[in-house]
Amino acid sequence: MSTEHIQNAFQQRLDKGDFIEPKDDMPDGYRTHLIRQISQHAHSEVIGMQPEGNWITRAPSLRAKQILLAKIQDEGGHGLYLYSAAETLGITRSEMIQQLHSGKAKYSNIFNYPALTWADIGAIGWLVDGAAIVNQVSLQRTSFGPYSRAMVRICKEESFHQRQGYEIMAHMMNGTADQKEMAQDAMNRWWWPALMMFGPHDSDSPHSGDAFKWKIKRESNDELRQRFIDKTVQQAEVIGLTIPDPKLKWNEAKNHYDHGEINWNEFHEVIRGNGPCNKQRMEHHIKVHEAGAWVREAAEAYKKKRLNKESLVTI
Ligand code: 3HC
Repeated sequence: MSTEHIQNAFQQRLDKGDFIEPKDDMPDGYRTHLIRQISQHAHSEVIGMQPEGNWITRAPSLRAKQILLAKIQDEGGHGLYLYSAAETLGITRSEMIQQLHSGKAKYSNIFNYPALTWADIGAIGWLVDGAAIVNQVSLQRTSFGPYSRAMVRICKEESFHQRQGYEIMAHMMNGTADQKEMAQDAMNRWWWPALMMFGPHDSDSPHSGDAFKWKIKRESNDELRQRFIDKTVQQAEVIGLTIPDPKLKWNEAKNHYDHGEINWNEFHEVIRGNGPCNKQRMEHHIKVHEAGAWVREAAEAYKKKRLNKESLVTI
């Protein structure tokens, strides 16, 4: 069958609303686009465990510690679902990790900022997971079956993540003057990087054209960013937090909030590796990955032994 024929048949399936499964014929471009996006999504989930992990021993109560532990464990699981979804496209886990360590693969900008106070844990849950939910709910309708199914599972857990973050912020805004100041300071530091999580403006997004053609993306970076802003501003108002954007204003005609311009220089500097914590995040990931080599070797040896034993039995 000619490549053109495969591509046309493939596009007809997508236009009909079919899910594409790993064993289906697919254009190489579709496969590489998904490997790029899903592996970077998985890297984000795992690297994202670091800023929160720093606060497990400093959580202000046993309940807070239990919730934070549960959330971080969830994030590790999200990473595993997504690495497994990417592996169905023909890339190995070690290749993906190697791409992360070499800087070839990215992870979300947001995890290159430090979590300085306990309020940051609230801001991360409320804003970062809140932004991730807006993006991931949309991705539930992505055309690649394993990715879509992973999103359905992940979104269920993300809503708990977002709720617990918002509860921390609400609690602090109901507390002492110092706690209120700590919560507002975290809001000021996490708001703009959270807006950057949705990616560059649609007009500056090199991948969105293909992403829409192949129904990998169902809504654009700007659409999802706007949806996040519209719902989060109201949540901030309820607990008395101020959004650090003097140009934020409700636009009755558009039925959306107008907002100030995002600092795209900062975004590009951070994703180029020059953010506040990029070096620390990568050094830690490499150190822990190397320290865990013996577990991978043992699992590999056990798998080989099992296979040899089974092959002897079947002879
Ligand atoms: N951080 C880092 N890089 C980003 C980025 C971000 N927030 N947004 C865009 N980029 C990169 C893209 O990866 C691409 O670079 P590449 O060619 O080297 O991959 C470039 O900027 C151009 O961006 P595009 O918008 O053209 O790229 P995409 O079409 O891939 O859209 C995206 C970017 C919207 C992030 C999309 O990849 C996506 O939806 N990914 C899945 C969701 C995801 O990865 N979320 C990360 C957070 S996970 C998380 O928060 C976990 C939670 O539980 C805490």
